[in-house]
Amino acid sequence: MPGWELFGEDERREVNEVLETGILMRYGFDGPRRGRWKAKELEAALCRALGTRHAQLTSSGTSALTTALAALGIGAGDEVIMPTFTFVASFESLLAVGATPVLADVDDTLTLSPAAVRAAVTPRTRAVMPVHMCGAMADLSALKALCDEKKLLLVEDACQATGATYRGKALGTIGHAGAYSFDFVKTVTCGEGGAVVTDDEAVWRRCDGYSDHGHDHLGADRGADLHPFLGTNFRISELHAAVGLAQLRKLPTFLAIQRRAKKVLKEALAQVPGVTFRRLPDPEGDNASFLSFFLPEERLARAAAKAMQGAGMAAMYWYDNNWHYVRRWDHLKQGAVLARLPEPLRAAVTATATRAFPASDAVMCRAISTPIGLAWSEAETRERAAKLAAAVRSVL
Ligand SMILES: Cc1ncc(COP(=O)(O)O)c(C=O)c1O
Repeated sequence: MPGWELFGEDERREVNEVLETGILMRYGFDGPRRGRWKAKELEAALCRALGTRHAQLTSSGTSALTTALAALGIGAGDEVIMPTFTFVASFESLLAVGATPVLADVDDTLTLSPAAVRAAVTPRTRAVMPVHMCGAMADLSALKALCDEKKLLLVEDACQATGATYRGKALGTIGHAGAYSFDFVKTVTCGEGGAVVTDDEAVWRRCDGYSDHGHDHLGADRGADLHPFLGTNFRISELHAAVGLAQLRKLPTFLAIQRRAKKVLKEALAQVPGVTFRRLPDPEGDNASFLSFFLPEERLARAAAKAMQGAGMAAMYWYDNNWHYVRRWDHLKQGAVLARLPEPLRAAVTATATRAFPASDAVMCRAISTPIGLAWSEAETRERAAKLAAAVRSVL
């Protein structure tokens, strides 16, 4: 990843087909669009690729999450359990629908710890939102069993995990709804874009309306649509969908490249004593967009990340990252919003974000991820593997 590394003729052809008609909007204009419906086509292709009954494209992964939450009826007064290691979109989407984020620890899967989720459940919990970070899955068996036991909704954030599966099922399709991102740095990219996937037709219909100002899309033309509920504009454009169509066709190729290259890097790093790897609940289902590993202690992880960067490799040391890990979410801790939140929600946000998370810290302070490129030659992959192992070995 990211998919733009392999942009080519296919992407250009799809985009040009849209430009030839000039109809950049996904709805309406039936005559002039001359049968070209890129967003609809991409939704159908996503259903086939992911094995889901419904897919609703949106303008981003963040808007897909917000749409999924709204369509599931999650809102004011509802608590949703989310991980301490994720992307800021998790709490942004929850706050957008007025729900209360409740942070819970991650474990050595780099995703929600089922035990921490159980401890965080209260009578106000409505949903659990695991985030399948860095291309691989949360412990979905344990989380689904817990949600079933407690009658909670399971909303999967699969934004970083296009192509990944758990026990043969695409991530995002195991809970009540899932969200994907096709932003510029994702495995499949539209430039900007996202999708909600669900098997529940009623949930999909609500996603379809919510992401387009509440239109029911049943009118003879757009002006004749009814609005059974309020929505917003989270529409994707035909241009973005066109890029995504070409990219999605390449997903099997992307996965094969990533898996081959990751294996080479992992085998080299496994030779370095003291290094351990992220636990994957289903290693077969990893989309292999990242290699994530642990050093024995924080000091060594920091030094290893620095050594990797010094050797010209990308090294994500998440513990210091202010998008991805709770320790540096200062804006959330301070409740720094532009449009005021209801006071009880603001207080709950500050309370959850300023808690200590020693179990997450113990994992995240030792974790490093490095992305797997799509355009690396075999020789380059081997060279990178050797550099990676040497850099990490140099600090141990
Ligand atoms: C885990 C996760 N969730 C949600 C998002 C939001 O996706 P987007 O950038 O398309 O809004 C991202 C984006 O990086 C992400 O990594």
